[in-house]
Amino acid sequence: MTASSQANQPRAKKVVLAYSGGVDTSVCIPYLMQEWGVEEVITFAADLGQGDELEPIRQKALDSGASQSIVGDLIEPFITEFAFPAIRANALYEGRYPLSTALARPLIARRLVEIAREVGADAVAHGCTGKGNDQVRFDVAIGALAPELKVLTPAREWGMSREETIAYGERCGIPSPVSKKSPYSIDLNLLGRSIEAGPLEDPMVEPPEEVYAMTCSIEAAPDTAQVVEIVFAQGNPVAIDGVRLDPVSLMRRANALAGGHGFGRLDMIENRVVGIKSREIYETPGLLLLIKAHQELESLTLAADVLRTKRQLEMAWADLVYQGLWYGPLKDALDGFIERTQRTVNGSVRMKLHKGNATVIGRSSSDSLYVPDMATYGAEDQFDHRAAEGFIYVWGLPTRLWAAARRR
Ligand code: ARG
Repeated sequence: MTASSQANQPRAKKVVLAYSGGVDTSVCIPYLMQEWGVEEVITFAADLGQGDELEPIRQKALDSGASQSIVGDLIEPFITEFAFPAIRANALYEGRYPLSTALARPLIARRLVEIAREVGADAVAHGCTGKGNDQVRFDVAIGALAPELKVLTPAREWGMSREETIAYGERCGIPSPVSKKSPYSIDLNLLGRSIEAGPLEDPMVEPPEEVYAMTCSIEAAPDTAQVVEIVFAQGNPVAIDGVRLDPVSLMRRANALAGGHGFGRLDMIENRVVGIKSREIYETPGLLLLIKAHQELESLTLAADVLRTKRQLEMAWADLVYQGLWYGPLKDALDGFIERTQRTVNGSVRMKLHKGNATVIGRSSSDSLYVPDMATYGAEDQFDHRAAEGFIYVWGLPTRLWAAARRR
């Protein structure tokens, strides 16, 4: 136990703490005051559509010693300012993970900083440990948005095991977790759930069905396929099956549809920013469905060279978001490119949901670059077949010259 008293040298006077209601962030409250001499801890819990009841969380912060407990609804900006840009960027970290956890961090950091300024705090704090990605995302974001604020990270420094943390909390009157202790570490919001730890730490062990909550198993998925049609305007999803929906409702609808057919589960070994590989289970049904549909609409509406360049830059975009560089210059520059490309990404994509799959079965757009008279093998064909000969003569010239030289 390293929680020796250092209260004689206060690290800050007034702190705004990112609060989840879990053991770690609850213990942060008395720890900041008793060990680090903080006079006042104000907690901030974000509603990102995770479905938790927030009133008990608000109360728990007060019971744990917070002087003020703030709950903020961030669902709408989360979807419009963070999820939709990720869809426009087709952002998939390492080609697979749609960043459901990563996207929330720069938004929480932004609100944390705003609150710190509103209440006149001299520091913000979070309960991230020293080996995850989230500490990187919070620290870098806060440093970019508010260089004047200190960032206090008790859980990175206290060196307590989980048992010690619970015991510390109990001594401060924080009730230990009442529910049967889950072996998993779970992060969730409206975009999805990230599940790690416990039996999942063995990469060879199949995730037990109990880890999933937003998607049904392939076995339990309906035998009948369901076709859904998603409409996009300038790269943003705006309607599903003919019903225009606001961004938050649309996200919920996409989750229900895809999750109900067992689509959107992911089991991956990923490379963390701090250099370690970790095994994470994700379920992000709606986000993956929308990205897949969006990619398809781009195939129809973007010129070949733009599409190829964009696919490369998308990887850079996903990397930087994963790595905590949301407020950095590369993000800003890439967003300029991406936004310019999305003006023609209008139209609809039809997907068939069935037994864990979401298959594109059709697409249409008023900005389509698909020209039937060019594509057709029928009598309407307008393509000049004879022009191909000269084209291929020039196109293949370097190859023929190189091959001839090699034969000599
Ligand atoms: N590895 C994911 C990311 O960095 C999720 C992190 C949080 N996951 C968790 N199970 N607590 O975005």
